Amino acid sequence: MPYETILVEPDPPLAIVRLNRPKVLNALNSAVIAELVDALESLDRDPAVRCIILTGNERAFAAGADISEMADLTIADQLQRDQFAAWDRIRRVRKPLIAAVSGYALGGGCEVALMCDLIVASETARFGQPEINLGIIPGAGGTQRWAQAVGKARAMEVCLTGDAITAEQALAWGLVNRVAPADTYLDEAKALALKLAAKPPLAAQLVKESVNDVFNDYLERGLTAERKNFYLLFGTEDQKEGMRAFVEKRKPEWTGR
Ligand code: CAA
Repeated sequence: MPYETILVEPDPPLAIVRLNRPKVLNALNSAVIAELVDALESLDRDPAVRCIILTGNERAFAAGADISEMADLTIADQLQRDQFAAWDRIRRVRKPLIAAVSGYALGGGCEVALMCDLIVASETARFGQPEINLGIIPGAGGTQRWAQAVGKARAMEVCLTGDAITAEQALAWGLVNRVAPADTYLDEAKALALKLAAKPPLAAQLVKESVNDVFNDYLERGLTAERKNFYLLFGTEDQKEGMRAFVEKRKPEWTGR
């Protein structure tokens, strides 16, 4: 499948998948997610690949789900398209997946980074869930994965204020594994990936499965509840106002309706 919104750079035993919509800070529209899932699943099947790096560009890993694509959707639209069913397939990848993050990792972009097994961040990386500023909530696991990774108090603060945290703060909170300068973070991610790629592949796969198993029961329930709440908010005036305001580059006026 030829890709239009991502680049796949095979470099056995590694593969680098690069989100590639730079004009919109790698905003994740349905085409990106479809291509990303297709690429990850085919690399997962490729025996020459032992570890996958997911990255963006210097300015943005990804600034979230594509707001212009979602702005006018209704609850019925959301239920019909069930956009997060496709996103969910990222967490079914069996090989170790490393996110190499520079610049913005916001909203759905942050959630995709958190779906990966390890995160190597550039000093410029910013992690956040700004959905509240659009009249919605995270929908691809943000409320669940932040709470798991950094605890309730910090998850509440990030999701309720919408403020992003720095790479340094993310390291101190245990959200990311490593922070490196902007010009070497990808090399750092590759070095880590090569280390993992040298391990016995089946054991690596089962480590991943076993660590994830600690959270799976809660996560399944939490993801379903979060997703329903996300879709529910598409019946509110605040969601329409929040997203229109973003597209029109103005401040939203909240009515609580
Ligand atoms: N969706 C669609 N377009 C986006 C986008 C997004 N999430 N993020 C940025 N863009 C676009 C902008 O509209 C702009 O396009 P134009 O040049 O055509 O105007 C372009 O990318 C560059 O962005 P800015 O001009 O805004 O750049 P900036 O440096 O001034 O600001 C930013 C950067 C703070 C990241 C700002 O772009 C921003 O706030 N983006 C939205 C972040 C956000 O709210 N993400 C959550 C989305 S909802 C979600 O992800 C739900 C979920 O749980 C899955």
